[in-house]
Amino acid sequence: MTIPVLTIDGPSGAGKGTVSRLVSKKLGWNYLDSGSIYRSLAIALQKLSVSVTDVTAVTEVASSMVLEFECGDELVVKLKGENITVQLGLETTGSIASQVAAYPEVRKVLLKKQQDFRQLPGLVADGRDMGTVVFPEAEHKVFLTASAEKRAARRYKQLIEKEIDANIVEITNEIEARDRRDRERETAPLVMAENALYIDSSDLTIDQVVEEVLNLIR
Ligand code: DC
Repeated sequence: MTIPVLTIDGPSGAGKGTVSRLVSKKLGWNYLDSGSIYRSLAIALQKLSVSVTDVTAVTEVASSMVLEFECGDELVVKLKGENITVQLGLETTGSIASQVAAYPEVRKVLLKKQQDFRQLPGLVADGRDMGTVVFPEAEHKVFLTASAEKRAARRYKQLIEKEIDANIVEITNEIEARDRRDRERETAPLVMAENALYIDSSDLTIDQVVEEVLNLIR
């Protein structure tokens, strides 16, 4: 029996995380936040003082890191038993994650870790290459995007709510730089899968996006 997968890809700040979590709850399916795996690698590298330019060392850390995911109301991530959830959300973490995510060796090592999330009764997988590389055979695919301004504004609000210091101009620059890196890299770039449903969430509420995604499954 094949285990159903819904992939939700798109640039950072498009609302993928919130939408994916809500949809996975409604369906009772498992949830993979693939960005958190790349972000966890970024934190592991910082802890071990490994340079992001040292591909061999970065790949070694990627293959040996021990991660645990607890999917309650909020996703809790532990690295070697230590709760790293707060650090995961920092902009610097996202930026380092995006840099090391460009290495094909790193993506190869992390591929199986992501595919292992495919468990019954189903999986909602959020990221950049879920529908193109990690689960190309998925029967339901969504590409969720929004304008860079809207995405920066949302990100700013999220950080302020978490009481993390934030600057809207820096966030916009950071989002644009990360978009460029994620779209222009050679391995598994951010592109829409051929058979994905395109949703621009710029002028939609979260509930409207969730409804559109659920309609796709129904
Ligand atoms: O979705 P996110 O912002 O948490 O992801 C952080 C970075 O990780 C993103 O800028 C690029 C990388 N990433 C990736 O290359 N492939 C994925 N499937 C998910 C994230």
